[in-house]
Amino acid sequence: MTSTTRIDEAVAARYGNRYLIEEAPSKHFPDVGMASVNAMRLVGQELFLDGDPQHNLATFVTTWMEPEAQRIIAENLHRNFIDHAEYPQTAEIEQRCIRMLADLFHAPGETTGARTQGSSEAIMLGALSLKWKWRERREAAGQPVDRPNLVFGGDVHVVWEKFCRYFDVEPRIVPLQEHKYTIGPEDVEPHVDENTIGVAAVLGTTFTGHMDDVRGINDLLVELDKEKGLHVPLHVDAASGGFVWPFLYPQSQWDFRLEQVRSINVSGHKFGLVYPGIGWLVFREKSDLAEDLVFYENYLGKTDATFTLNFSTGSAMVLAQYYNLIRLGREGYTYVMEIMQQNARALAEELKSIGTFELIGEDEEQLPLVAFKLAEQREYDEFDIAWQLSAERGWMVPAYTLPPDAQQVKVMRALVKETLSREMVDTLAADIAQACQTLEKKGGAHESERKRVKTATGY
Ligand SMILES: Cc1ncc(COP(=O)(O)O)c(C=O)c1O
Repeated sequence: MTSTTRIDEAVAARYGNRYLIEEAPSKHFPDVGMASVNAMRLVGQELFLDGDPQHNLATFVTTWMEPEAQRIIAENLHRNFIDHAEYPQTAEIEQRCIRMLADLFHAPGETTGARTQGSSEAIMLGALSLKWKWRERREAAGQPVDRPNLVFGGDVHVVWEKFCRYFDVEPRIVPLQEHKYTIGPEDVEPHVDENTIGVAAVLGTTFTGHMDDVRGINDLLVELDKEKGLHVPLHVDAASGGFVWPFLYPQSQWDFRLEQVRSINVSGHKFGLVYPGIGWLVFREKSDLAEDLVFYENYLGKTDATFTLNFSTGSAMVLAQYYNLIRLGREGYTYVMEIMQQNARALAEELKSIGTFELIGEDEEQLPLVAFKLAEQREYDEFDIAWQLSAERGWMVPAYTLPPDAQQVKVMRALVKETLSREMVDTLAADIAQACQTLEKKGGAHESERKRVKTATGY
């Protein structure tokens, strides 16, 4: 080390961060560390390059919680959720959340469920239970178990295809159509047979925020059971809709009020209004969970039953979920959902008045969001608008094509959350109109800009 460096080190230690003039460690395990304040500043500075979550209208996931909830989270980061023996009260709080959700979803009696990392883990576990239960039924009847299939629409989240690939199940995907972005019984029926482990229907699709015809699919499955002896359970993927429909559309039947609905997943970190890292799986009855999936272990002298893909994970989000459930109750969740819906409707009206856009399914039951597209062909498209809007004002409003066979349809979608006040809605609408004007003048985005447009739907 030269004397100059030694002086620099000493001066930097006194006045600032030596990484202001050095590359961040990135390739090798560092030989020596750095002062905690320097490490904190280094990490913090890099994150400025990420998108600002408040501008992110692509995500369904919570980007704001009350200070009191943040305090619970901060004070409980050191608690490992899976240590049921050491933290029995946290385990009890998980069970309370499951009972409250079962009640919200009209479970007929005592039931069971699990806290998960998000809807993806809940879906993997729920679908595994469908597979195990199907196998039990087939084996009991002396029938082959080598060709399980699962039926769902092209409007599902990609996690359903992931489940099929990881767990060796044939996906039977009902294609969408140019003017039909959800599925119903007539779409499902041709795909169901004795090897169908279940049907998955979505409440609040990732693409347009609508629901599959859950009631129609339920009626079909009830009929198939009665008339052909085909027992096919229905799982509802209510990742987003599970915390929206009970409050905005309480009369709409999609949950355990329908007899063939045997399990439901919901993301606590979406409209459950908790930060990322929490999902829920709820069964209609205890017997809907395949017993073989429950692991009983002797943990520190106590028998513990687990039904999860992970073991260690944080408790903080479970506690934060419970905080929200008791803080808001039905009245509070209804209030929050209604203000989001009202602001989504205001945004929809303002977009319509620009004259360039048409809305997608605004008269149907829908998540609090606006899904829209250009009403007619122009020199620019939805992807160009997403790019221009982000370049001019930093808004992240995604553009994407719908799944097959509606892949020619381009859509934009803005989530309207608690943090998007009416004032911000007006600003956003004006910014979208301005981005269109810029594109009119320049005749669309440049080819090099188009290459950089992000096309994911968001989570
Ligand atoms: C309908 C649906 N299912 C499942 C998922 C996956 O959920 P998570 O991100 O909570 O794992 C999403 C996420 O957007 C979704 O919208």
